[in-house]
Amino acid sequence: AGRFDAFRALSERHGRASEALIEDLAGVREGTTDGPEGWAPAVAAGLGLPAAAALGPAAYYADLVAPHGRRHVRICSATACFAAQAGRHLPQVERELGVTAGTVSPDGETSLQAVRCLGYCYAGPAALDGTTPCTGPALADRLSGREPPSAPRIPVADDTG
Ligand code: FES
Repeated sequence: AGRFDAFRALSERHGRASEALIEDLAGVREGTTDGPEGWAPAVAAGLGLPAAAALGPAAYYADLVAPHGRRHVRICSATACFAAQAGRHLPQVERELGVTAGTVSPDGETSLQAVRCLGYCYAGPAALDGTTPCTGPALADRLSGREPPSAPRIPVADDTG
């Protein structure tokens, strides 16, 4: 008996449902201000899984547990983004959005979550405004609407010459 027998049995019993669970939880989380206990059971039901199968992961992943306002901004505080502006980007964004990382503004409109690496290290500092990437030195101005959003561009080798 291998240590993954229980997982294998669960996967065989629920098939695609168990594979889709995290993706569905993350999809529902975006744009939902309630805590996971308010929507995770419905996600499980939609996949034909018991509520506990969704409540466990929903309580485990920081991205699902973090408090969400109607507008949820994730800001990277990992090494490359920290180095890009010597850590100044996070306090600047907190001031611009009027909300401290890890909280929701008093009107419930905006939440800010400090995260570890969004995969845009080459273009940092980086943030995700909902599901829209926003990067660059003017990050606070971009998130406040004073500058247009700037999506990261993947650097490619110049093959022209
Ligand atoms: Fe910030 Fe990777 S270190 S996106």
